[in-house]
Amino acid sequence: MALVGRVFRCVVPKFAFPSSSPVLTALALPNSCNRYFSKSWTETYKRFSSSIPKQKKETVSVHFTDSEGNQYSANAKVGDNLLDVIIENDIEIDGFGACEGTLACSTCHLIFKQADYDKLPETPTDEELDMLDLAYGLTDTSRLGCQVIVTKDMEGLQVSVPAGVSDARGPS
Ligand code: FES
Repeated sequence: MALVGRVFRCVVPKFAFPSSSPVLTALALPNSCNRYFSKSWTETYKRFSSSIPKQKKETVSVHFTDSEGNQYSANAKVGDNLLDVIIENDIEIDGFGACEGTLACSTCHLIFKQADYDKLPETPTDEELDMLDLAYGLTDTSRLGCQVIVTKDMEGLQVSVPAGVSDARGPS
């Protein structure tokens, strides 16, 4: 509380009166105020702001190859899932991610290289495996993109999109 009071006494007169004002001079502000007055408002605000500046998320490069051999490179934010990566990078893959990551469609089916698949930090849950069973062109290294979280170790990851899409929800 003492700090708040000191800042209040220092900052309020600064805005209430111009710096050349005799009122400000007459207030005989303590020397400790000089360190606040000598800084720009932005610096002073940062110093006392309780909000923590948002940190930029770390990104890695991930490459997608569609069924026609087209390659798409994406900046993937660590912590996002691969469906988010495709959406945020405006990669157009027909029918991909139809259920928007609610684990209800299997259209976000992706195929990994064996080495990359083995390095994935999490194994598929039973729910994902059930949905994968309904995916088009299932392989031993298949995962659902909406369930794979990007990690720092995925720099340069290459994944393939199967030749077809099967929506487990059936025809709409
Ligand atoms: S987007 Fe539907 S299961 Fe992943």
